[in-house]
Amino acid sequence: MQLQEILYSQGFGTRRVCAGLIQQGHVQAYDAEGVAQACTDAAAEFEVNAFRFRVQGVDWPYAERAYLVLNKPTATECSQKPSTYPSIYTLLPSPLRTRPQKAAVQGVQAVGRLDQDTTGMLLLTDDGKFIHRMSSPRHHVPKVYEVRVKHALDERQISRLLEGVVLDDDPKPVRAAACEAVGEFELRLTLTEGKYHQVKRMLAAVSNRVEGLHRSQIGGLSLPADLAPGQWRWLSAADLTSIAGA
Ligand code: URA
Repeated sequence: MQLQEILYSQGFGTRRVCAGLIQQGHVQAYDAEGVAQACTDAAAEFEVNAFRFRVQGVDWPYAERAYLVLNKPTATECSQKPSTYPSIYTLLPSPLRTRPQKAAVQGVQAVGRLDQDTTGMLLLTDDGKFIHRMSSPRHHVPKVYEVRVKHALDERQISRLLEGVVLDDDPKPVRAAACEAVGEFELRLTLTEGKYHQVKRMLAAVSNRVEGLHRSQIGGLSLPADLAPGQWRWLSAADLTSIAGA
């Protein structure tokens, strides 16, 4: 693929802007030895498989589809047009937000949403099929939440969360796939569906109240321990298998 086309596909602007970046010497391509080589020819051809390049001092892998994990900090919103707090999308470099539209998805999108005060693991991608698969209740991808509650937990609350509780708008009970108290005021809850404010509403249904909520795992993949709040990283093929295969 031509270098100009590679940059365009990865969100660096129009084809003209990408050609300009290359011709002005802002782009380097990594060779087989892992050495960055300057390239000012916008039409230079590269094999994209495992291709890496550098734009204005920042390294990028070529990725036909982008899959990321973000450690969502508190006081951020998962919306592109937030109402009160900054959008999580401001935590990402702009090429990831402006990758050209594919199958109705422009740039990476959050796979589901977390509340503004919820922290932890959020996946983002520009793969519409992946978003659909992960969001579909039929796929039952387990999500693990670490929950801090206001009132001391007891056996009765845990067993009700496991047996199923009725949430106001839906007569069908929702149940936790797993639930264990990990402290007097802390529990670990696994859900396989993602209804609006589900954890908060489930705890309210057992007369408790969520004081802190953190998502620690999706499918078989845990939030990487070295990913500080606000940081993101690319997901590998092995990560994606862990997520979907759990
Ligand atoms: N359940 C909630 O109540 N809030 C979240 O952010 C995620 C799950």
